[in-house]
Amino acid sequence: MRRPLVAGNWKMHGTRASVAELINGLRKQVLPVSVEIAVFPTCLHVAQVLDGLQGVHVEVGAQDCAVDPVQGALTGEIAASQLQDAGCAMVLVGHSERRLLLGETDADVVRKFAAVQSCGLIPLLCVGETLEQREAGKTLAVVGAQLASVIDVLGVDVFARAVIAYEPVWAIGSGLTASPEQAQQVHAAIRAQLAVQSVEVACAVRVLYGGSVKAANAAELFGMPDIDGGLVGGASLNADEFGAICRAAGS
Ligand code: PGA
Repeated sequence: MRRPLVAGNWKMHGTRASVAELINGLRKQVLPVSVEIAVFPTCLHVAQVLDGLQGVHVEVGAQDCAVDPVQGALTGEIAASQLQDAGCAMVLVGHSERRLLLGETDADVVRKFAAVQSCGLIPLLCVGETLEQREAGKTLAVVGAQLASVIDVLGVDVFARAVIAYEPVWAIGSGLTASPEQAQQVHAAIRAQLAVQSVEVACAVRVLYGGSVKAANAAELFGMPDIDGGLVGGASLNADEFGAICRAAGS
């Protein structure tokens, strides 16, 4: 049995005041213990969130890291080893906003994935197609290539210590959600691709869905056989909404 995971990606949102409010809201939620829960604030707010959520079963992660795991002369970057030292448990790698708006390549993503694991943290690898690619019938090819870039360099076994998030780019922040069937098809394909090399890894890895997940559609998505939880953007900034999504994953 795969334990569901609900991850809240706060993106470039938050001030100390609004983060304090969100922490208070999260502390009031009834969160199912059967679900692993994590939030990904900006690095500026990691310490505040770790402090504020002490005693609550919510882990804290970072949204990105440098390609090199060790500290060094690289202005503006943060190394995975520093994230580990700061108390992060996970790191998002390859979010589509970084791939598409900041030019992050598959090769960068592979290095970041490896950097995160080398520090004992869990990478949460994001994959997904654009609307243009979906309309051209290339969804499985695009997602397959993103996944293959990691498998080819690092091997399939690295997914024994990682999480995958399928996030169709056209569904992110758009209010458009992939239907449960559309998402399930891609999730099953991801698992099948891993199974070619290791059935054990394929069966155990958690594959999250991301893209306009909200309390109103979460249960239906999480009810699909290969969807093991969600990577939640906008809705994770509202504690009540995020709490409801976590409860949907536990039911
Ligand atoms: P969204 O973002 O839930 O606001 O669509 C998801 C994500 O980008 O991780």
